[in-house]
This record gives sequence, C-alpha cells and structure tokens, in this order.
Amino acid sequence: PQANIGVVGLAVMGSNLARNLASREGNTVAVYNRSPERTDTLMSEHGDAGFIASKTIEEFAASLSTPRTAIIMVQAGRGTDAVIDQLADLFEEGDIIVDGGNANFQDTRRREAALRERGLNFVGAGISGGEEGALKGPSIMPGGSKEAYATLGPILSSIAAVAEGEPCVTHVGSDGAGHFVKMIHNGIEYADMQLIAESYDLLRRVGGHDPAAIAEVFDEWNKGELESYLIEITAEVLRQKDAKTGGSLVDSIVDEAGSKGTGVWTVQNSVGLGVPVGGIAEAVFARAVSSKPAQREAVQKTLQGRPDIQEAGDGFEDDVQKALYASKIVAYAQGFDAIIAGAEEYDWDIDKGAIAKIWRGGCIIRAQFLNRIVDAYEKDASIATLLEDDYFAAAVREGEDAWRRIVAKAALSGIPVPGFASALSYYDSLASTRLPASLIQGQRDFFGAHTYKRVDEEGVFHTLWSGDRSEIETEPSTH
Ligand code: 6PG
Repeated sequence: PQANIGVVGLAVMGSNLARNLASREGNTVAVYNRSPERTDTLMSEHGDAGFIASKTIEEFAASLSTPRTAIIMVQAGRGTDAVIDQLADLFEEGDIIVDGGNANFQDTRRREAALRERGLNFVGAGISGGEEGALKGPSIMPGGSKEAYATLGPILSSIAAVAEGEPCVTHVGSDGAGHFVKMIHNGIEYADMQLIAESYDLLRRVGGHDPAAIAEVFDEWNKGELESYLIEITAEVLRQKDAKTGGSLVDSIVDEAGSKGTGVWTVQNSVGLGVPVGGIAEAVFARAVSSKPAQREAVQKTLQGRPDIQEAGDGFEDDVQKALYASKIVAYAQGFDAIIAGAEEYDWDIDKGAIAKIWRGGCIIRAQFLNRIVDAYEKDASIATLLEDDYFAAAVREGEDAWRRIVAKAALSGIPVPGFASALSYYDSLASTRLPASLIQGQRDFFGAHTYKRVDEEGVFHTLWSGDRSEIETEPSTH
C-alpha cells in the first residue's frame, strides 16, 4: 500500500479534487470510479504522477496505507450510502471515510453514528468552490471526530484555498457539523445571488442601463466593500454576448432558476430551529416563483397595465449599492444565527470566527466582507447578532436611507425586491421598540386562551373574553 489518500467517484469534482491532491508534495492518491472509463480518462490525461488507479474497490482499499483515508465524491443520496457500505466492509478500525458531497447533515449524522459503532471514522466534509475550486483550492468544512481530523487535517490543508496566509479549512465540529455549515454557506449563497439579481433588475429597469453597462457598475462595486467572487462573476455573465442573437446572453436565458436542494434545507432547518432567515427564505422562494410559468402567465393575463417605472434620479446607483450592502449584512447575520442555533441543538462546538475565516477563500461566497465578520467575532464572540457589532451597525445606519428609497421605488415601480424588502423589514423588526406581536398574543388569548405576559407585572395572564372580560392570573397554556 502506498497511497496516503484516496478518491472514489471521478466525475468533474472528484477528478479535480484528486488532481489537486496529487499535485501537492507528499501525496499519493488512490483513485477509483465505478465505471472504469472515468478512471482511464483521468489517468490518460493527468496520470503522469501521484496516482494509483484501481479497477475494483478491493484493489482501491488495498492501495491505501493505514489509517486508510478515502474521500467519496459521488452524487449525494443513495449512491453515497452504497459506496460507504462497500468501503466500510473493506476498511478496518481507525480508518477514515470522508463524504465530500453536498450531503444532508442529518444523513451525515446517521452515517457517522453507524460507522462509529463499527470502529470507523466518518467525516462529512462540505467542499465549496465548484469545479475550479476543487482543482485549485476549495474551502473545506469537515465535521467528524477530532481523531479523524488529526490525520485528515494536514491533507485537506494541503489542497485548500489560502486566504490571508491561512488554509481555508478547519475542524467545524463533530458528526454532521461540517455539512450543516456547508448547507448554511449555500443558503447564504442563495441570498447573496438573489440580492445581486435584484440590484441588476433595478439598474436595468429603473436605471435604464443595458447589461454591458451594468457589468461596468458591478466592476466598480467590486473594488469596494462589496468585493466578492459573486459580484465578479456577475459582471462576467452580464458582459457575455449571445453568438446566436448578437444580444446579451442573459436575455437569451430562460428566467426560471433551478436549485438542487441545499437552500431549501437551510430554510427547513432554520425554521425548525426557530431562526428567522427571511433573506435566505426569500431567495429560495424567488427561485420557486420564477419556476412557475403557468402562474406567472395566469397573472400576467389579468393585468391592465403596470405601474410606471419611477425616475431613477440622482444617486440611484449609489442607493442600489448601499441597499445591496445593507441587505447582504442582514443575510449573513441570519446565516450565522442559524449556525449558532444548529451548534446549540446538536451540541457542536463551532467557532464562528473560524467559519468566517475559511469562507474568505475558495468558496462561492468568498469576499473581503468575511474579514469584517472575523473581526466582529474576534472582538466579541458573544454578540447577540452581527448587527450589534460596531462596524455592521454603522454600515447599516449609513445605508439605511438609501435602502428605504430603493425598496419604496421598487414597490412603486412594480419591480419585485423580495430580498431587499425582507431584509429591511427584518432590520425594522429588530429596531422597533414595540412590535404588533402584542396584538397577536391578544388574538391567541382570545380564541385559544393561550395566555400572555404583561409589560408591567411578572406572571402569566388570561382575559375572560367570553365572560366578563376581566383578567385573571393563570398558568401558561399547554394546548
Ligand atoms: C459550492 C456550491 C455548490 C453548488 C450548489 C449549487 O459551494 O461550490 O454551492 O455546492 O454549486 O449546490 O446549488 P443549486 O444548484 O441549488 O443552486
């Protein structure tokens, strides 16, 4: 046995990861794919050094030095379970099976527990950065045991992206913590993309710019606090011409956004944990609405004209930029809230600053901005929300007027901005000293005797709504 690391599953992500591993000093990479064609392609195109190819999974296992360490890069779901079962039968106590796919963290928890019973280490590792990241340096979010990370950490560090001199990988926490954090990463990714898309729509329909001109605006923004991979690629997409029509490619693409599930999981789990992640949820819903052509058409048929698009006016682009930044801060604050709640629920010891650090490079949401989050948690890891941090509080205050103008202008123009609007409402909810939740409590007490608390007295109360409407002190309702 000579390979210190193996990769199972040689589609694009898997073979790029294997190539990345093989390119690093000290690694020899065992590779295996169920159908041998992919293995053959990898070996003929890139197999000059650093690989040991196997035709069977038995050979693959035998080519690994102990503790055997293999990264599975197959389609999440049943395929993953099948490969895990095969490896588990061949591996021995102390060996390490890593799932590098976008697995649901609950599956990861289940698999980890089952393999731990058999003395095997199972690590669910979120890997972000797409195909290029896998090849040149992704951001890696491994969960699993500390013991497994002792072996795995140095290998993953050797291939991870580097940001501010540090590899973008950290031991996130036990069992499913890595895949949970990757899931939240993707939720934030959805929100970020939605907010950028809303900005584009406003610049186009209110600002009156064509896609190429908007690309220039994004290039400009990419030099400031919004600097990020997603802004950068947005400009590239907008600049792309369509060879078939001669127009902008974006105008030739059907406006129905797809998704593979991680955004939905983020929302499902956050809702279950009681965390308001409106910015992420609106991004998921916006994709869903876009993909309902029948409903869109049905409503469009009922229309008799649309509102006039408002004048852009002076400083419109700056306003959009500020609205985008403020909304982005909210989306990230919500995402980190979900991480904190997940850590509490599942007993993970997650270092929030370390997560912000490993997202600074390699991943889809990589951005300068993450440094501000690192700073915030370094100053005070116990803040109740990122919005409390001095820098973020000031940034939102600074953008607040612009944010309101943009949401108002969009509403008056009939342009949907669910991301901007929900982020602003979330902010205003936290900022309001009194919320109409008091009325909700009154309603609940009216129809269901669900009780309420008073602002001026300890205890639990109920008004005898169907009696003389006097108030009694009571026990909290249990129904
Ligand atoms: C990443 C991406 C990656 C993938 C998403 C796309 O971090 O590298 O998030 O995981 O591109 O799954 O998600 P949708 O297909 O749901 O948009």
